[in-house]
Amino acid sequence: LPAALTRLVADNLREIPDFPEPGVLFRDITPLLANGPAFSELIDGLAEHYRGRIDAVAGLESRGFILAAPLAVRLGIGMLTVRKGGKLPGPVIGVDYALEYGTARMELRPETVRAGDRVLIIDDVLATGGTAAASIELVERAGGSVEAICMLLELAELGGRAHLGGRGVDAVVVY
Ligand code: PRP
Ligand code: MG
Repeated sequence: LPAALTRLVADNLREIPDFPEPGVLFRDITPLLANGPAFSELIDGLAEHYRGRIDAVAGLESRGFILAAPLAVRLGIGMLTVRKGGKLPGPVIGVDYALEYGTARMELRPETVRAGDRVLIIDDVLATGGTAAASIELVERAGGSVEAICMLLELAELGGRAHLGGRGVDAVVVY
């Protein structure tokens, strides 16, 4: 990814100590989204990078949707919604994954994936990798081919990449 995008994102984040719990440094993307020229430049930059390489964009609920929808429109391709469990009407396929406490579930309507489509998975943050790993599995089970994985932020110390089956991640900013 172009270095200009890294600067753009890094310059428009807000760091909030002790949110949502003590000891956690939360990186907030709302200033970036609220900055019209910056948001637009980000989407344009991503569109340039992936143009011609992908047939669909899969956004991961909910913050991934914010990125996936404008990118899909910019490229004139479809958006797939990988949603939290229980939100989509059937038929759906689902993958459960472990959280620090308890489990979570992501779901996808396989009918929305055309066989063999090259899919970009996009989300705001790669942390432990559970959400992304579940989403990769869903896209592949639905017949898509995961062409790339794009994350605005990667929290490298949480080791998320190790859960993505050796796939590369296009991280705009790595912490
Ligand atoms: C956050 C973030 C990623 C995910 C990353 O979403 O937006 O989707 O966690 O974590 P992981 O790599 O450890 O799976 P969250 O579930 O907080 O929900 P939201 O997007 O709806 O805010
Ligand atoms: Mg999320």
